Amino acid sequence: MGKHQEMARPAMTRIAEIIAQYQDQKWPLIPLLQEIQEEFGYIPPEAINPIARALQLFHSEVQGVITFYEQLYTTPRGKKVVRVCRGTACHVRGGKTILKLVKQQLGLEEGETSTDLEYTLETVACIGVCALAPNIVVGKNTHGTMNPKKIAQLFANRKGGG
Ligand code: FES
Repeated sequence: MGKHQEMARPAMTRIAEIIAQYQDQKWPLIPLLQEIQEEFGYIPPEAINPIARALQLFHSEVQGVITFYEQLYTTPRGKKVVRVCRGTACHVRGGKTILKLVKQQLGLEEGETSTDLEYTLETVACIGVCALAPNIVVGKNTHGTMNPKKIAQLFANRKGGG
């Protein structure tokens, strides 16, 4: 993502509303962070201070929890997360080339999200369907026995996208 932009006022109001729902609960931090992420697709950095204040925590404590949980993100994510397998089985069957092609097709490097927030590109250790290597996952769907043609078809609308 490019430069960080400040959140619009309605977003901050919505964050305050969500915080209010959790303020009096016993262990509110994780469910509160999860709900904020569900609403925005990530945890906006601007949400951390109001959360810390409401729950009487330090900013660093809230930040620490977000960093600890891999499922919590502090940068916007694409609607579809593309995960290219870099496990051994996929690697020996050309996984590296598959990753290169996906990068080209999406115009993204690992860990990046397209500016239109459609795609995020990641790699994973093993998807668990090694017999079909090389594999990639797009959103909730796994695509096996990938090859350059299939990659081109899958992301036909994104040539060099970004
Ligand atoms: S190594 Fe890729 S699915 Fe197992």
